[in-house]
Order: sequence, then structure tokens, then C-alpha cells
Amino acid sequence: MLLSKMLVPTLREVPKDAEITSHILMYRAGLIRKLGSGLYTFLPMGLRTLHKVINIIREEMNNSGALELLPPILIPAEYWKESGRYDLMGKEMFRLKDRHEADMVLGPTHEEVFTSVVRENVRSYRDLPLNLYQINTKFRDEIRPRFGVMRCREFIMKDAYSFDIDEAGLDKHYEIMRVTYRRIFKRCGLEVVPVLADTGNMGGSASEEFMVPSTVGEEEIIKCPKCDYVANVELAKSHYEFKEENIQPLPIEEVHTPNAKTIEELVKFFNTTPDHFIKSIVYVADGIPIMVVIRGDFEINETKLKNLIKANNLELADEETILKVTNAPVGFASPIGLKVKIIADESVVVMKNAISGANKKDYHLKNICYSRDFKADLIGDIRKVKSGESCPKCKATLESYRGIEVGHIFKLGYKYTNSMNVKVLGKDGKEFTPIMGCYGIGVGRTMASVIEQNNDEDGIIWPITIAPFHIIIVPINMQDEKLVKTAFEIYERLSERYEVLIDDRDERPGVKFKDADLIGIPIRITVGKTFHETESLELKVRRKKDKILVKLKELDKKIEEIYNEEKRLYEV
Ligand SMILES: Nc1ncnc2c1ncn2[C@@H]1O[C@H](COP(=O)(O)OP(=O)(O)OP(=O)(O)O)[C@@H](O)[C@H]1O
Ligand SMILES: [Mg+2]
Ligand SMILES: [Zn+2]
Repeated sequence: MLLSKMLVPTLREVPKDAEITSHILMYRAGLIRKLGSGLYTFLPMGLRTLHKVINIIREEMNNSGALELLPPILIPAEYWKESGRYDLMGKEMFRLKDRHEADMVLGPTHEEVFTSVVRENVRSYRDLPLNLYQINTKFRDEIRPRFGVMRCREFIMKDAYSFDIDEAGLDKHYEIMRVTYRRIFKRCGLEVVPVLADTGNMGGSASEEFMVPSTVGEEEIIKCPKCDYVANVELAKSHYEFKEENIQPLPIEEVHTPNAKTIEELVKFFNTTPDHFIKSIVYVADGIPIMVVIRGDFEINETKLKNLIKANNLELADEETILKVTNAPVGFASPIGLKVKIIADESVVVMKNAISGANKKDYHLKNICYSRDFKADLIGDIRKVKSGESCPKCKATLESYRGIEVGHIFKLGYKYTNSMNVKVLGKDGKEFTPIMGCYGIGVGRTMASVIEQNNDEDGIIWPITIAPFHIIIVPINMQDEKLVKTAFEIYERLSERYEVLIDDRDERPGVKFKDADLIGIPIRITVGKTFHETESLELKVRRKKDKILVKLKELDKKIEEIYNEEKRLYEV
């Protein structure tokens, strides 16, 4: 391919809204352009890599025995109404009406569609097991689209849905996908860590996320340095023994606290430590206000809370609701004497002589004792685990780091096959309901994550397996006939075996080298001064620092060597 004909608008400057390396480099290297918030065009160079990622995913999925389908993205709302998710999905789902005023949806995920395919087409246990997948566009109206193609509103996902006769079958599919995902990410040159993930309150039984460790990741991961415990903070647990303090319960007392509102101010005011406080927070769960209490030095983990109370929607209450529930403005809430349900973290039920609000402006209560002064309607672990706490498995000190979620596998169970009434004829002549799993990979996010992991100050360093081209040939002077002729001869010859780009633009060598590095083509061949002098060419592997000189007649052999060496890095 001729670079001059390829529409690669490289940039020297950093685009305004690009905050993270991959976004900056994808923009600067001319791989993507923004059309609107969370909406991106892949330009030719970027699309080549996107297609390579897709090809790897497709090969590995096919090898795993999965079958590819191509369902519509525009989905009649009735399927979503059947599963019960039409009302639950909230604003993330794009909704529209067709010309007949029928409700339609732009698919944010495809459980309903694949379940209906199985319902309409699978009659007997003999047709199972099945793992059906698509590589297709998804729409999600994200609250905060950002980081380029990492979190956008329209993106390509590989999503697979398995259907099995029984749980043992699902376990097998889940295992196969775990292995397949490892192979896919390895071949893409991406180092991932599988971590335990939240299964929600929808009957799922196991879930793993594939995380790319990265300081710009939006997920927090809790990891034990000693054993194999690694979990998304959303569900991470820690070992904690909450023991009742051996102190005399004192009578409850109202204290005037005019200028203290935050925990820090109160800690100072009462001359104590945060663990003597009860944090009392009003939430609204599925439209109903609740009071949630936790020890003052802990944070509430909203995912755990949501699961504990089996809510679909959970949000912090607004000022008006807080006033209604507690009779006081924000900052003075307590669980004592309220009419709403009280949910308590385990940490609270052993507390004695604790401090909390008085449900009265500018007043707090001290010497609150659980059980004597209030009782929770529901008690559970709703704490957010922090680094420094103890591992739930081996008690070693937990660490935390950030990660980007590139893939997700999930044992769904019977949620969709039940709600959508899928019946298959069993071996015994009786009907049964198949059990499901689902498995997703974000294609664009995977590509961006590879860049997060593989770059330097000059630009992208593509793994050769997904690089837009294997080789770039740089003739340093387009006016020099001998150089140009040689460069094109090499180009023609190597193109028979490799994907080769030639920088035929009438640009200065410095510009060409900068662009080659920025775009990150793994192997660069420079046809320049050394060719005139000694008939040799300069080879540079993007991943390495040094350059080597190779005689023209030895070029093909050397290229083959380098190409194989590069490829071996990503073999599974
Ligand atoms: N807005 C998005 N833009 C690009 N890729 C996405 C987006 N949302 C999800 N993905 C990709 O699709 C995969 C499967 O989707 P899934 O529904 O599990 O994601 P999710 O849990 O909503 O992700 P997140 O927590 O990042 O929003 C994710 O692992 C990710 O790689
Ligand atoms: Mg999401
Ligand atoms: Zn451990």
C-alpha cells in the first residue's frame, strides 16, 4: 500500500479532549476521528487493526466450537418487555419508534435476541449444547462517554450466548470461554488478569472480568499478594472480625454541633476517631427511601448494597427526600426513630456508645448502642474493601490497583430462558429449560488497551499480530531515482509475503520516521544513504532501540527472521 494514497492524517499536537495515551495516540496516528460525543470513525489505518482484532476473536471463537450469527441491532421492544428489561434498562438504552409508532430498541446487549433464536429454532436436547455469537455494533447511551473508543456510545462487541442442557454443560462452556479469552488476548499482545466479578442479583452464579492493569482503568481491583484472590472491588470481601467492645453502655445524649458536619469536623469536635461514628446515608432503592448505616471509617459499596436488598435501581437520595425521611437537612441523619427500612453493615451491629446525627439540624447523638437504640431490618456485608485490609482467604494484606475491563464472562443461569419461556424436549420426553452463559469482548476497547500497554514517547508499538502493516519501507528522498527504484523493488517483492506499506510521500526523512514511529509499524526498512555507500539498508524493529544494517541480497532472509521472531511473541 502507498502511504500517499491512504488517508492517514497524522498530527503532531495532542487533541483537546484526549486525556489518556491510547486516545491521544489513536488520534495523532490518524486511526480514528470523532464524529460526536462517544462516536468515532475508524479511518483506514485504524480499521485494519480493528479487523485484525476481529479476525483473531473470530478464529478463536470458531475454534472453540461457537457459531457466528448476524442478528439485527434494531430490536422490537416486545422482546425486552418479555424479559422484563424494557423498564429496567434505564437511560443507557437507546429507544425509538418506527413509522407505525411501534417501540424499538438499539441493542445495548443481545440476551433477548439470542434467547429468542433458540426458542424459535431449538426443538430437542439433540440440538444442544450451543454457543452462539456475533461481532456486531452495540449502542449504549453512556452517562460519560470518554477516553475515545474505550467508552463510547456506539461500539463493536463480540458477544456470545451459550445454551446447555444442565449446569455441568454451562460449566464446560464457561471453562472453554476462559481458555478462549486467554488465547485471544495473548494473540492480540494484551496482558490481562482475570478477576472475580459481580454477578448481580439476577441469579447469575459466576462471573469473571478480564482486566488490563492500567492507571487509567475505571475499575478497581483488589488483589492478595499471597494467594490467588483477585476481585473487582464491587464484590471484593475482606476478612474482618467485628467484636462487641467490652465497654459500659452510656445513656444516649444530644450534643449541639453547630459547625461540624463532615466526619473530619466531627472527629475533631468529639475528639475521637472515625470508627466511633455511624455513617447514616439515605438512598432511594427502586423508588423507596431507605436508611443505610455503616461504621464511620468505612465506605458503602453500592453494588453489594444493591445485591443485598435485591434492588434494580439504587441512588443517593436528594436533599428533599433526606429532609422528608430524617426531618433534618443533609448532614444530621441517624437511624434512630425513622419510619423507613434500615439496612446495616455488619460493622454497625457490634457498636456501642457510637456517634451519629440526631435527625435535627446542628445536633448529633452520642452513646448510641445498636440493638438498644435501633435495629436494622437487614444486615449484611456492604463495605467497600480497601487496600491494607486482610485477604478473605488467607488473611494477608490486600492490595489494590486499577484496571480496564476488556472482557466479561458470566454464568447467567435461567434468567432469560425462564422469563422468555424457552422449552426444549429432553431425552426423557419431558420439556426442560436450557441454562445460559454470556461472554463479551469489546473490540475497540481491546485495541485501545493494547496501545495503553504498548507505546513509548514516539508513539504506538503494535504487536505484529494486529499491526495495520507488518513492514514500512521508507525511501528517504523521493527525488533520488536509484533509491526510489530500489525501494519499490523491495516493496513489490516483500508484498508477496507480508503486508507492506511504503512511504512514497515527498516528505523530509524526519517527518517520515516520526510518522512511522507514531503509527507503530513493527518493522521499518530505510532505503537511504547507506544504500548508495554499501548497498545496505537500515532495519529497525519498532519494539527495539537499535538499528541494524543489512545487505540488499540478505534482506529477505533477515526480514523473515525478524518477522518470525516478532510473531512468536504472541503465539499461544
Ligand atoms: N461504552 C463502551 N464502549 C466500548 N466498549 C465497551 C463499552 N461498554 C462495554 N464495552 C466492552 O464490552 C464488553 C462487554 O460488555 P459488558 O456489558 O460486560 O460491559 P460493562 O460491564 O457495561 O462495562 P463497563 O463496566 O466498562 O461499563 C466490556 O468488557 C467492554 O470491553
Ligand atoms: Mg457499562
Ligand atoms: Zn490471600
